[in-house]
Amino acid sequence: MCGIIGVIGDDPLAALLDGLSRLEYRGYDSVGVAVLAGGELWRIRAAGGGALVDLRSRVGKGELFEPSSSLTPGRSRGLPPGELVAAAGIGHTRWATHGAPTEQNAHPHSGCTGRIALAHNGIIENHRELAARLQASGHTFTSDTDTEVLVHLLEENEDGDGLAASMRRALRTVQGTFAIVAVSISDPDVIVAARRVSPLIVGIGVDRASGYVASDLPALLGRADCFYSLEDDQVAEVGAGSFVVTGLSGEPATPHELKSKWTLEDSEKAGYETFMEKEMAEQPDAISDTLRSRLRPDGFALLDDGLASAGERASALATAAYLDTIERITILACGSSLYAAMAARPAFETWANVPTDVEIASEYRYRSLAADARTLAIAMSQSGETTDTLQAARAVLGRGLPLLAVTNVVGSSLSREAQAVCYTRAGPEIGVAATKTLTTQIAILQLLAAELGQRRRVLDRGDVARISGSLARLPALVGKALAHHDEVREVAARIGQARDFFYLGRGVGYPVALEGALKLKEIAYVHAEGYPAGEMKHGPIACFEPGTVVVAVATRGPLWEKMMGNIAEARARRVTMVVVCEEGDRETAEVADEVLTVPSAPDPLTSPVIDVIAMQLLAYEIARGKGLDVDRPRNLAKTVTVE
Ligand code: F6R
Repeated sequence: MCGIIGVIGDDPLAALLDGLSRLEYRGYDSVGVAVLAGGELWRIRAAGGGALVDLRSRVGKGELFEPSSSLTPGRSRGLPPGELVAAAGIGHTRWATHGAPTEQNAHPHSGCTGRIALAHNGIIENHRELAARLQASGHTFTSDTDTEVLVHLLEENEDGDGLAASMRRALRTVQGTFAIVAVSISDPDVIVAARRVSPLIVGIGVDRASGYVASDLPALLGRADCFYSLEDDQVAEVGAGSFVVTGLSGEPATPHELKSKWTLEDSEKAGYETFMEKEMAEQPDAISDTLRSRLRPDGFALLDDGLASAGERASALATAAYLDTIERITILACGSSLYAAMAARPAFETWANVPTDVEIASEYRYRSLAADARTLAIAMSQSGETTDTLQAARAVLGRGLPLLAVTNVVGSSLSREAQAVCYTRAGPEIGVAATKTLTTQIAILQLLAAELGQRRRVLDRGDVARISGSLARLPALVGKALAHHDEVREVAARIGQARDFFYLGRGVGYPVALEGALKLKEIAYVHAEGYPAGEMKHGPIACFEPGTVVVAVATRGPLWEKMMGNIAEARARRVTMVVVCEEGDRETAEVADEVLTVPSAPDPLTSPVIDVIAMQLLAYEIARGKGLDVDRPRNLAKTVTVE
C-alpha cells in the first residue's frame, strides 16, 4: 500500500520529491527520503497530515541529517540548501501497518551504522524471529515496524561484495511480501531493489543516464520511458542508465518489459482542483477508449483483442470451443470493482444466458468450492494488485481452472498471473476513490457479456446492433450526466449535513446504490448504507425518521414501478427523499425533495454507467462542502496490498 521510489543520476532529490507527490495516493500518513551525497547518507522524514508538504519545506530549509549522526546525540547537523549534491536516493510514502504513523516509524530506515537506508512495501511475516536473532547479535532497533529488520539484515549480510549480494543473502531468510529499495554508502553507484508479491518497476531515464525504481508507474512518467516489472524474488542493481537483474542465488534473471501508453499528462491534475474531479470528467473519454476497436456494428471484438494480449497463456481461454462450453461465470472482486461486477451481472444473464455469480474476493478464497472446468472465473481489480483479489485468483488457478483478469494496469500482478487479460484502458487513476475505473469496468464486462451472447447465438443480428448502439452511446450520455454537476452541488449543499444516508436501488440500480453509499463513506466520512429497496421493509425502515436522507435510484428500468412503491413507503416516514431520475421525468421528480438528474439509458441494462455519475458527484460535493481532501481520504490507500 505504500509508495516507493529510487533514483540514481538525474537530480535525485528533485526526482524523489516529485515522485513522492505522485505516489501519495498509495499512502500518506508519513513520508521520508534518504540520499547519498558527498560520501554520506542523508535522511529526512515527516509524519502526520500534510507530511509531504512539511518534508518539502524542511528540505528547502536544508534540514537534512545523516542517520549515523542522528543515532549519536549531539552530532546531528543540518545541511544548508544547495550544498547537497545527491548522486542517488530513495523515498517512501507510508500507509501504516506495523507501528503508528510517526516519524520514528517512517521509512527509509537505517540500521545501526547509518550506512544503509531502505524503504519497503509489504509485510515481513517472520520479522519477530529475525529481530530476536539480530538483537542477540547486537543490533539495536529504533522503530516498531516490521521493515526495520531488513536493514539490519543487510548490515549483517555485508561481505564486501556489494549491496545486491547482501540483499540476495538477506532475502533468503525472509518470509512475507516485499518491494524494497535500498542504497548504501559502500556501494554508491547503484540503487538495489527486490520484489516478492508487492509490485516494483525499474525504469531507464529518458536521458539514458538515470535509473529509477518505483512501486507505481505514475511516479516515473516524464522521467523514464523504458519500464520493466520485477518478478518475484528478483533483485535489480540499478545504475545510471542501466540495470542488472538476478535471482536470489545470483543467477541471471529477466524482468518483464512493460508496454504502457500512460503519459505524464495523464497523471497530472491538468487545471482541475482535485484528481477525483479530473477523473470523473475523463469518464466519457475513458469509456470511449475502453470501447475503441472492440465495438463494431456487426459485433464485438473484445475477446480477440483482450485475450491476445496475454499471449500464449491465453490459449485455454481464447478458443471459441472453450468459451462455448462455459456454463457459469464467477467474478471475484472487492469494493467498487465488486459493485461494477454486480452492475454487469444482469448483462451476462440476459445477453449471454450464462448464470453469473459475483463473489467478494476476501471471502471466496476461504471457501472450499468444487472445481468446475465449465465455470469461467474472472478476477477484476483496477489496480491488479489488491491482495484479496489476487489471492482469490490464485485459489482459482490452484484448482487448475482458467482465469480471465480485468484490470486497468498493464503488467500488474493480476494481469501476469491470469491466462488472459482484458484491459479497461481508463488511464492512471490517482484519486483514491474509484471513478473512471469503475465505469470502464462495467462497460468492459458488458462488452464481454454481449460478445459471449453473440458467440453463443443468444443474440441475433438485431440484438447485436441494438446492444452495440447502446454501448456506443455511453460516452456521450456520461458526458450529459456530468453536465448536471452544478445542480448536484446545490443538492449537496442542502442535504450534506445529514447524519444518516440510505441508498436504495433495485435490479441494476442496487449496485449503483451500493456504490453511492461507498463513495459517501469513503470520501465524506458519513454513515451511509446501500440497500436493495425491496429489503428496506425487512429491517432498515425502522431507522427512517425525519432527517434521514434516502437516495433512491429511480430511473426507468423494468423495476421502476416497484421502486416508486418503495419510495412511497420511505416518504411516509418523513425522510428527506432524493431521487436519481431521468431528464424530463416529472412523475418521478414529483415524489422527491431533491432530484439528481441523469440522461436516459437506451438499454436499461447499461443505466448503471450513467446513473452512478450522479452518485459520484453527490459524494464529491458533500465531501468538498465539508472541506475534506477527496483525493486522499483518511485511513485509505489506493492499492490495498494487505488482507
Ligand atoms: C472505492 C475504492 C475501493 C476499491 C477496492 C478494490 O472507491 O477505490 O473500494 O474499489 O479497494 O480495488 P481494486 O479495484 O484495485 O482491486
